[in-house]
Amino acid sequence: MDSLDDLLHWLRIPSISSDPAYQNDTRKAAEFTAHLLRQGKLENVDLIESPGRHPLVYGEWLHAPGKPTLLFYGHYDVQPPEPLEEWTSPPFEPVIRGENLYARGAADDKGLLYILIRAVSNILARGNSPVNLKFLIEGEEESGGEHITEFVASGDSRLKADAVIIADTEMFAPELPTICVGLRGIVYGEIHVEASRQDLHSGVYGGVAPNPIQAIAEIITTLKNRDGHITIPGFYDRVQPPTAEEKRAWARLPFDEKKYLETEIGAPALTGEPGFSVFEKTWARPTFEVHGIRGGFTGEGAKTVIPAKAVAKISVRTVPHQRNEEVVEQLTSAVARATPQGVYARYVSLHTGEGSLVDPRNAFVQAAALAMTEIFRKETVFTRGGGSIPIVSEFEKYLGIPSVLIGFGLPDDNIHAPNEKLYLPNLHRGILATERLIELSASL
Ligand code: BES
Ligand code: MN
Ligand code: MN
Repeated sequence: MDSLDDLLHWLRIPSISSDPAYQNDTRKAAEFTAHLLRQGKLENVDLIESPGRHPLVYGEWLHAPGKPTLLFYGHYDVQPPEPLEEWTSPPFEPVIRGENLYARGAADDKGLLYILIRAVSNILARGNSPVNLKFLIEGEEESGGEHITEFVASGDSRLKADAVIIADTEMFAPELPTICVGLRGIVYGEIHVEASRQDLHSGVYGGVAPNPIQAIAEIITTLKNRDGHITIPGFYDRVQPPTAEEKRAWARLPFDEKKYLETEIGAPALTGEPGFSVFEKTWARPTFEVHGIRGGFTGEGAKTVIPAKAVAKISVRTVPHQRNEEVVEQLTSAVARATPQGVYARYVSLHTGEGSLVDPRNAFVQAAALAMTEIFRKETVFTRGGGSIPIVSEFEKYLGIPSVLIGFGLPDDNIHAPNEKLYLPNLHRGILATERLIELSASL
């Protein structure tokens, strides 16, 4: 394959969608995405704007009348790179070391989306495509933005398609082609706690003044117990176990729990609900996590203070069939009930996204599995993912079409973490597999 210059250029743009300081860079990344599509011979390439939102990027090639239409989705935004000191090389200065390309966005998602763009560009460079092709690329995936939801819900005719193709998940193991057929949803929010009028001397008032950080700790431990079980009444009512067939398939996956603990987690032990496997716990059971607690004194040295207020960032990963608006209500009342004496506490919802299930028997999913099996020379496996791609459920809901999740990332790609990378052999094989999928789709 020829040069990676375009991908490197794209990766140098710090398109951190959640941070207003990177507004201009995020737009630059959108414009560069549009450039990549135009260069790849897509037509009617356009930025779809909405006030205060990062633009969507659209492009199409519709010269295969009577043939299916594939809609390729991905995102050009990235997670913040912090902590910077943990990176071996700076996050927005992509470098190749060994067989890996290191940069924020290398695997999530610019590098994987580049696979789709390159495959389509290669086909169009050789002549006509056997199927119709569309791209819809967003810049708010990492920040729970609503722009794409509104667009997909709007019924815009540009979205008419037979299947969505997404490269934004990972392979189960380095040589194992993988299709992800289930994702968890997310309910993200904050617990706000306020107590005294202002910060107080902890010696003078300690013993009588309520402490908001202590209150946050109490609230959190009331929501989830030491077994990792969420103790909110009714929370598990809609949770469904994986099918027997899924369980059998998961049991056949090559998996060494000890190695997983060592290489992917790096902590002394795994935790979570007793009686469930790692796959069940990360793919088919909901979870509650605390992302950060802000408040009080966290600087160098010591300061004896009782903070006046504190905020915790929390999320619930929901599973398919759970209803996010119900979970928001459950969280809101559970926080209210768990609030200790002397403080005000409330749950503030930031964003939500539904989980999804894809039928592995779908013809486009089967074509993708065949394409990947041919290129990687190994039987494609079907897994679920613990992460969330909220738009998948909306493509199903508003457009009635399935998403084919052909991820080419690896479990050790460090997505959302320092030293994010892309395993370059997968870039090449991913492009070939996507080209093959496009060919095979012509007869569906
Ligand atoms: N690409 C990931 C989701 C993912 C990663 C799914 C690996 C399956 C396996 C996506 O970019 C992501 O990080 N999504 C966020 C969504 C949220 C901010 C709405 C997530 O899962 O935290
Ligand atoms: Mn992603
Ligand atoms: Mn991500």
